[in-house]
Amino acid sequence: MKRVAILISGGGSNMVALADSMVGDHPARPCLVLSNVPDAGGLAKAAARGIPTAVVDHKPFAKDRAAFEGALTAALEQAAPDVICLAGFMRILTPGFITRWQGRMLNIHPSLLPKYKGLNTHARAIEAGDAEAGCSVHEVTAELDGGPILGQARVPVLPGDSPDTLAARVLPMEHQLYPNVLRRFVTGDRTPVFLP
Ligand code: GAR
Repeated sequence: MKRVAILISGGGSNMVALADSMVGDHPARPCLVLSNVPDAGGLAKAAARGIPTAVVDHKPFAKDRAAFEGALTAALEQAAPDVICLAGFMRILTPGFITRWQGRMLNIHPSLLPKYKGLNTHARAIEAGDAEAGCSVHEVTAELDGGPILGQARVPVLPGDSPDTLAARVLPMEHQLYPNVLRRFVTGDRTPVFLP
């Protein structure tokens, strides 16, 4: 059985979708949900599912990213994950940390990469007049939101969309896409999935 650690910063709806998918004949199980935000809503949802949780608050580390990542690594190593899923984890990770887990770390990003790396993805898609938006799951490499794409899901951008209405259309697709990609990834299948 593969062990999957999930890193969150917020409500954790993608974490819930991932955790709830790892049942029955699924070849992986969640081994840890870790947040850098002490009161992240996802922590209670993980605990309610019986998943071990941890907090590594980035704030006391101030600008010392290496020390923050050292604490992150220590917590992760205790859980001994085979795969790490970033699921709304809103800290930039340095190449040192990424190299440690390279080839074993996935991220979900709310845009059709390579478009709109970084923040405010939905506002930027609307601003650009795009007909489509969506989400991408990719392998994490040292380039921010730049690693190999393992899956994408598309939705239309509708007239009158705000960033919030578009996000509400994309999020359910994230919940379909990420478990789909993870299941394949843990069996060694990296061929990209395209939904719908
Ligand atoms: C999701 O939309 C995810 O794609 C996004 O944060 C949200 C987290 O929601 N991630 C990023 O923007 C990463 N740069 P969740 O906590 O409910 O899963």
